[in-house]
Amino acid sequence: MVRKISNSPLPRIQTVREILLRNRVDGIIFSNMSNIRYLSGFSGSDGILIISSDSACLLVDGRYTTQAAAEAQHISISEYQNKVQGIERAAKELGLKKIGFEAAFVSVEIYDDLVRRFSNKAKLVSFGKELGSLRACKEIREIQTMKKAAAIASAAVAKIVREIKPGWTEQEVALQLEVAARRSGAEQLAFETIVASGENAALPHAKPSHREIRKGDFVVIDFGVKYQGYCSDETCTFAIGELTAVQKNAYRAVLRAHDEAIASIRAGVAAADVDALTRRVLGEEYGRYFIHGTGHGVGLDVHEAPRVAPGSQDILTAGMVVTVEPGLYFPGLWGIRIEDTVLVKKNSCEIITKMNKKLITIS
Ligand code: GLY
Ligand code: MN
Ligand code: MN
Repeated sequence: MVRKISNSPLPRIQTVREILLRNRVDGIIFSNMSNIRYLSGFSGSDGILIISSDSACLLVDGRYTTQAAAEAQHISISEYQNKVQGIERAAKELGLKKIGFEAAFVSVEIYDDLVRRFSNKAKLVSFGKELGSLRACKEIREIQTMKKAAAIASAAVAKIVREIKPGWTEQEVALQLEVAARRSGAEQLAFETIVASGENAALPHAKPSHREIRKGDFVVIDFGVKYQGYCSDETCTFAIGELTAVQKNAYRAVLRAHDEAIASIRAGVAAADVDALTRRVLGEEYGRYFIHGTGHGVGLDVHEAPRVAPGSQDILTAGMVVTVEPGLYFPGLWGIRIEDTVLVKKNSCEIITKMNKKLITIS
């Protein structure tokens, strides 16, 4: 049975209610688990949250009933055997006629089933960006948690870099990073760790392999952890032994692009302009080897709004947490990426990741 509640104490739910009003829908079905966690506190891996003007109801299957009741204390919990049936029943009990849904997080199968069940009783309205941006500006508590996640990950990288020797495999480095981070309180990895050496570093999302790290390599380590649900994201590129002048110059160019992009970040700046600046600093010589966007928002998801990339319409706002991660990738040869995560402030930004990005040589 869905219990109606009024004046939810959760301001985040109030924000959703403003979206309902603006878009003239009676309720929104949330199926993105990060949004569900953000709005309800429920951290399970499956469920549905329905928010209307006077109710908030979390639908879960039997695996999660106890956890949901403990975590989502301001929200009524309803158990389903079949998810779509559960949504249909809740929508009927709440009297919803026009219902929004997260288009990027509903399968065609579930959508078709919902349309069939609602038939002429209720209409579905697709939502995109507005719900994707709900979490973009962080609250003070979230920022504190993200700083802790960043500190754990940076400390793990610093520890392992003191220990790495030529001859370690990429896999061994990744393993030791995870052990160090978990020992310091990381609850899980924020994404699959990237440790890429030599020619593997030319692949932006390389998987750690059995390749042994050797002199003359760049080693790209892109590492992040989750702490209380929040992600960190940082990349360092290290030199193993002596590098060529070409490699050193390329590193300097990436560092300059990274530094200038960060120096440009403050509230009111267009995210696309930060990306354009990064490319301008890299210049024509290097620019064509920079094959991804400059950055992205980080939070409960490692990749979330805003986008710091060509064509982004996002305007940076105080409280947003974004990465700046220029890189150069020379297929078959080597690669470099330098990534920090920053908190956007009124007149500047604060770097929350901790590793110094001056080139460190491991011998
Ligand atoms: N770690 C993935 C990224 O930096 O986007
Ligand atoms: Mn990263
Ligand atoms: Mn990143």
